[in-house]
Amino acid sequence: MGNESQSHRISASDDVEVSAYLEIAKELRGEQLALEPKIPPRKRETAIVIDFGSQYSMLIARRIRECHVYCELVPYDAPWERIASYNIKGFILSGGPASVYNIGAPLAPSYIYESRLPILGICYGTQVIAHQLGGSVSLGAKHEYGHAVLHISDEDCPLFAGLPASFPVWMSHGDEILEVPPGFRALAYTGNSPFAVIGNDANIFGLQFHPEVVHTPQGKNIFQNYLSGICGCRGDWTPANFVAEAVDKMQEQVGNGRVICALSGGVDSAVTATIAHRAVGSRLTCLFINNGLLRREEPERVLNTFKRNLKMDVAYVDASERFLERLRGVTDPEMKRQLVGEEFIRVFEEEAARLGEVDFLAQGTLYPDVIESSATAETKASAKIKSHHNVGGLPSKMRFTLVEPLRYLFKDEIREVGLALGLPEDMVWRQPFPGPGLAIRIIGEVTKEKLEILRAADWIVMNEIKGAKLYRQLWQSFAVLTDVKSVGVMGDYRTYGYLIAIRAINSEDAMTADWSRLPYDLLARMSDRIVNEVPNVNRVVYDITSKPPATIEWE
Ligand code: XMP
Repeated sequence: MGNESQSHRISASDDVEVSAYLEIAKELRGEQLALEPKIPPRKRETAIVIDFGSQYSMLIARRIRECHVYCELVPYDAPWERIASYNIKGFILSGGPASVYNIGAPLAPSYIYESRLPILGICYGTQVIAHQLGGSVSLGAKHEYGHAVLHISDEDCPLFAGLPASFPVWMSHGDEILEVPPGFRALAYTGNSPFAVIGNDANIFGLQFHPEVVHTPQGKNIFQNYLSGICGCRGDWTPANFVAEAVDKMQEQVGNGRVICALSGGVDSAVTATIAHRAVGSRLTCLFINNGLLRREEPERVLNTFKRNLKMDVAYVDASERFLERLRGVTDPEMKRQLVGEEFIRVFEEEAARLGEVDFLAQGTLYPDVIESSATAETKASAKIKSHHNVGGLPSKMRFTLVEPLRYLFKDEIREVGLALGLPEDMVWRQPFPGPGLAIRIIGEVTKEKLEILRAADWIVMNEIKGAKLYRQLWQSFAVLTDVKSVGVMGDYRTYGYLIAIRAINSEDAMTADWSRLPYDLLARMSDRIVNEVPNVNRVVYDITSKPPATIEWE
């Protein structure tokens, strides 16, 4: 991923600058893309993560992809046929909540040992190796949780290439190894664990700590060493390679059929549409539904980018009035979400019918959604906090066959692919924006007047945040129009106006978030501008709650 200092980010949202950037990006990146050799999926180096249900399993997959090695997460009981067609270079056994001696404890399938390929166990995965290969594991003797210092005892082990003699690691385990299996030896230790890292001469290794979490700063080097030094991977998983493969795959799936794709203005649907366009050209129709709940100039910008710059066929539907009508008098947050979702599907169905014979629907489903929906009942979140509505979330009963080119990508990979495709940075780095749009950032009833107020305030927030070069650093930053009115004074007059709240948060994945300690001067500028430039607003507050207990959006 690019970082802030290398960025060509344009600090103000401006069509002219965006288009200019786009032209440059298309020339630079688009050309490069065509030169990358394509690797057929069957030849592509793959690491298989055997999932024992750790909360960190997805992180392991991400770390491996960051080393440019393709990987898939499969359940511990996946049959060999599930992975047989891959060019497997090695296995990783994840952590997990079980104890190897529990009745029915998940164990590794025998094929991983029979394959003679390298294996890396992590935490529970290491105990599984020890248990299955004839060592012994103590039952919850010593719980170890938190920081520890790892001391390397075998400096020649390729897992530690280029690493210092000792470094911090993150521990989180109940059981521990008492005796290593025959042929294994200790490669590193901590104050509490004599067998913090074990290994044998057949390239089977086990780590008692978690290399995938940020609290193990050298973790990525360990993955890199394992993948390149032990598994022999060259690192052939690049965005350009992915694009070439996704285009091929889509051509194969779609044949001569026609494809429809709903655009939201966000990066997932933009990347999906661009890949589909490369694959089927004019047989793709993009549908952009303006629900009237978008931010200032957003519809124009989305249309401009796709129609003018990317030369795509976009059907634009202004359904603002319909959505507003449905939302009239509605104040309940869940009801708003539901109505916007339902109306979106209705409009989509009507418009799709108008287009005639369309066989395929391209959708921007991401890997976390795929993993989430295939998770077992007990690993799924049990309480519904909010019903989410995405452009991607169309009902499966629709008559289209789904094509999901991003099905195996993580969000940061989508951004890289977006850049490789030559999409404007403005779009690639757009902060997340909820499907129900401004409807859930206006507390109480949604009206045209309130939408205008919020758009004007939000524009100022975005403008100032971009001006302060904080837009990319923040997970999200936006304005909320509260249902509170308060008394103020302007000149010699009493005012009675709306209260705007500013929300700016830092987050890794939106599951948790911390309110951002924005500079006071910046807050002051936003506040001054909002009360001066936005009619009917006379007070601004800053939201200083984190998630949990608050959520990111107010509704
Ligand atoms: P909350 O408010 O639940 O939001 O903390 C977590 C993240 O999800 C975004 N969000 C949505 N995204 N459709 C979306 O596509 C939705 O209905 C939706 N609701 C919330 C929110 O902006 C934050 O990034």
